[in-house]
Amino acid sequence: MMYSKIIGTGSYLPEKILTNSDLESIVDTSDSWIRSRTGIEQRHIAAESEMASDLAVNACHKAMESADIGADEIDLIIVATTTPDMIFPSTACILQNKLGIQGCPAFDVQAVCSGFIYALATADMFIRAGRCRTALVVGTEIYSRILDWNDRSTCVLFGDGAGAVLITKCDQPGILSSHLHANGSHYTTLALPGSISRGKIKGNPFITMDGNTVFKFAVKVMEEIVHEALAENNLQISDISWLIPHQANIRIIQSTAKKLGISMDKVVTTIAKHGNTSAASIPLALDIAVRDERIRPDQYVLLEGVGGGFTWGAVLIRW
Ligand code: UT7
Repeated sequence: MMYSKIIGTGSYLPEKILTNSDLESIVDTSDSWIRSRTGIEQRHIAAESEMASDLAVNACHKAMESADIGADEIDLIIVATTTPDMIFPSTACILQNKLGIQGCPAFDVQAVCSGFIYALATADMFIRAGRCRTALVVGTEIYSRILDWNDRSTCVLFGDGAGAVLITKCDQPGILSSHLHANGSHYTTLALPGSISRGKIKGNPFITMDGNTVFKFAVKVMEEIVHEALAENNLQISDISWLIPHQANIRIIQSTAKKLGISMDKVVTTIAKHGNTSAASIPLALDIAVRDERIRPDQYVLLEGVGGGFTWGAVLIRW
């Protein structure tokens, strides 16, 4: 059997930090509301000159360094993003060029906050099918550009950043299983409904969200998907060393942990410092827990995400 295994991680956060107190002078909100309802204290904001591919390049260089892999060894690039540099070509192609790589397949995956899970699952399947050897999988987002900074119900929630992993072919897992789902009947619940038509933006170019509906849905599927992943691998909750959920709201994460009966000590959280970085949130959290050595060889690590679509999914890893 052929499997894939993560051999390097990297992440990047833009320099500028926007605190909750900073937001108090932009919209009618308060530090205490944001902290108590979401767990967010601050978020990073990309510079005017930075694009999603720039954030990705920085994260990728760190992942390549940690894996000791040269650009010439990468034969697949998948980028998960909802905030691409441009409508086309894909951010993956732009990233490929910035990394000085040529020839290998490069494409974007659009599954909003579940994007990294979708991208990692896809790369794993490429490797298992024998179609590539070493893949770069990236989540990169600049949500600050698609937020309505007059809408306090959304602008306080998101941040910018990027995370990357390198996965390579191996005889032992590695990635044990991946689980992907979508339910398009909810496509209007969390959306950026605008489009470009005849040289103009048609419709709303900012994020719109029914926060309560998203919250309830997220808590439900974040629990279900963990059970699905464990059942497929004949594992128990107690076998999981680290749960790395998408970072949207600390209350969603805490409710999920409580329903699963998993201690918050085993859950990696970055929401306080990063806000919700959509497709970047899981690889960012993963990189942090790898670098501070919480994640160690042979541990079971479960990544899970939920987002617009709705989409949701999980990847179970033996580290
Ligand atoms: O990656 C997936 C993307 N999104 C999510 O996962 C978001 C999921 N949803 C959530 O995290 C939560 O639903 C929110 C954080 C968005 C909202 O929290 P909530 O506890 O569900 O608040 P709410 O929407 O029920 O609003 C409660 C009150 C309202 O005032 P009234 O009607 O009670 O007077 C809002 O107008 O809080 C008000 N409010 C705010 N107040 C201060 C809403 N946003 C703010 C704000 N600052 N930023």
